[in-house]
Amino acid sequence: MLPVGDDLALALDRVRFAEAAGITPDDWQARLLRSTAPRILVNCSRQSGKSSTTALLATHTVLYEPDALVLVLSPSERQSKELFRKVLATYRSLDRPVPADAENALSLELENGSRVVALPGKEGTIRGYSGVRLLIIDEAAKVSDSLFYAVRPMLAVSGGRLALLSSPFGKRGFFFAAYEDRANWDYYEVPATDCPRISAAFLAEERRSMPESWFASEYLCQFVDDITGAFRYEDVMGAFTPDVLPLFAHAEATAAAVGPITPAVRPLFAKPAEEFHL
Ligand SMILES: Nc1ncnc2c1ncn2[C@@H]1O[C@H](COP(=O)(O)OP(=O)(O)O)[C@@H](O)[C@H]1O
Ligand SMILES: [Mg+2]
Repeated sequence: MLPVGDDLALALDRVRFAEAAGITPDDWQARLLRSTAPRILVNCSRQSGKSSTTALLATHTVLYEPDALVLVLSPSERQSKELFRKVLATYRSLDRPVPADAENALSLELENGSRVVALPGKEGTIRGYSGVRLLIIDEAAKVSDSLFYAVRPMLAVSGGRLALLSSPFGKRGFFFAAYEDRANWDYYEVPATDCPRISAAFLAEERRSMPESWFASEYLCQFVDDITGAFRYEDVMGAFTPDVLPLFAHAEATAAAVGPITPAVRPLFAKPAEEFHL
């Protein structure tokens, strides 16, 4: 157990908490840790510290808020476990300030009634959780829209927080839709060139070894066109105009009922890239 004075300081300030766990947060990490926003959107380079920072947030939440449920979701159980392992490492490095009722590879349950659970990345196997205080979606650009829309209602009644973390993966899906709507999120964007732990020499080597668009996506936070798309996103969106009247009389009514065309809506039958012979 930490001395009471320290413990209060750590409870009140997540940056002090991070430091006690051995991490000196970068500026953006400190801002994220201190944020109280209900919706957090993290569009940052690979290896910038997205998972580590939200793992600190998750650990702080369950230690200091009783009966808090924190869920970690990603495209696969392996990736969810990776973030969860950072939670366990923080918890252990602080000498387990609140004792655990159960501690295993996928969940940590504390005596104060709080839990962190790492979820598998498959819709059918995720049971309904309610009262979620914090939902972290790691590698969010690669989580399917159907999975996202399946887990989102878990925040509805509890009014819990949502954190989406990823580097971009094309102009599609809910992560890109959130990016387009970033004015309504607590938004973080950190290219690798701003990360003190990623050297210019490493980046130069990476840039040489991959296509420019891939590099821009992985390291420079840029949403580049989906390689399976025949048209550029800007061209498609630019083709919509309110000046052109609908061809069919019922089209307007349909548009009113269906709502605006959104990049979050994906084709039902998308062909994998290798099936295209252009
Ligand atoms: N503020 C920091 N100080 C020191 N090391 C850090 C910091 N933030 C992240 N790291 C380290 O950087 C590496 C990448 O962090 P990670 O959270 O896995 O990145 P991401 O999820 O963005 O790919 C890890 O080894 C992590 O411990
Ligand atoms: Mg990560």
